[in-house]
Amino acid sequence: MGSEQIILIFTGSQHYAPLMADLHHQFSLQKLNTFGIAIKTAWFCRPSSLDSLTAILDRDEIRELPLLVIGEGSNILFTSDFKGVVINPGIKGIEVVEDKGEQLLIRVGAAENWDHWVHQATEKGWYGLENLSLIPGSVGAAPIQNIGAYGVELKESFAWLEAWDLQNKKMVKLDKQACKFGYRSSIFKNESPARYIITHVTFRLNRSPNLVLDYGKVRTAFAEAKGKSPGDLRKVIIQIRNSKLPDPAQFGNGGSFFKNPMVGRAIYNCIRVEHPDVPYYPDKENRVKIPAAWLIEKAGWKGHKVGNVGTWPSQPLVIVNYGGATGQEIYDFSEQIVEDVDRKFGVLLEREVKLI
Ligand code: EPU
Repeated sequence: MGSEQIILIFTGSQHYAPLMADLHHQFSLQKLNTFGIAIKTAWFCRPSSLDSLTAILDRDEIRELPLLVIGEGSNILFTSDFKGVVINPGIKGIEVVEDKGEQLLIRVGAAENWDHWVHQATEKGWYGLENLSLIPGSVGAAPIQNIGAYGVELKESFAWLEAWDLQNKKMVKLDKQACKFGYRSSIFKNESPARYIITHVTFRLNRSPNLVLDYGKVRTAFAEAKGKSPGDLRKVIIQIRNSKLPDPAQFGNGGSFFKNPMVGRAIYNCIRVEHPDVPYYPDKENRVKIPAAWLIEKAGWKGHKVGNVGTWPSQPLVIVNYGGATGQEIYDFSEQIVEDVDRKFGVLLEREVKLI
């Protein structure tokens, strides 16, 4: 196929979007955070085009207020009402922008559901995203923490993104280097947390197999399923995830609540004295990654509940709202885990979810 050819496989509503999106006052975010916390934002809007986004940002009511961008709210814990404006980008669309036969570039609107996009890609036989199946959230949120699972991170198939730069009031295109992706991190999470509103992400996927199977039981499960295609691997990943992780539609949660900590050799050696079987993954700088789930389990918190909050019985890295918990209760529960793990192992767990 020629490199100039553009095939539109799905378009959202951006071509028909009204210039001015509605600005809602005192808007409930209960359905826009996967913990299901009943909180409100002073102002809310869902612009479905760049024009409506810039028009909204110019409105007098909100110009001076703090701004928070959320996708599907799958990695955020609200501990109180938000006194600013929540922008929930509504820009959709999945389009092939370059097709060189072996590799393709596909541009995806920020508001597309992440797993819907992964499903579309695997159905087409495009390799690169299958290990990231069933991760909750939107495409626009995926680069923020460089989502990762089962041996693959977003950065590996990431080509570039487009974003509205609030500082310089213009669209920018940021490549992989500019985004400074790391383990659950990027410039959007660290250096410039409130500077950009991501509108599109462009992915580089492959037509030939490049399956990543070396994580846990993935290879065995794939072989047992007689898998071949990215779609087959997607099914295996979905099975593994469903067996371990709670469905946010049933049990409010934000996925992994903490990051897996990197510790120095001295701390690791101390832990190993009492626990010779401690799992660990050394890095190039002589530091060691220890699974947070292991630390939380050994500290006695696996499946533990306080009121309506608890860790998930088969993956204690996930904190669950069993119904009606407040954000503050979830935060307090997580703080008890942090203190206890620190006391018992000398390791300070860092939260992965964004706190508001
Ligand atoms: N473990 C325990 N007890 C448990 C569960 C796990 O000790 O109850 C230990 C085991 O040693 C196991 C290790 O933790 O081998 C790793 O467990 P798992 O494979 O479940 O992965 P994880 O490190 O706990 C990370 C991601 C997950 C992702 C999985 C699979 C982070 C913070 N979390 O979890 O991401 O699905 O790997 O790739 O890196 C998310 O970010 O929301 C998320 C769910």
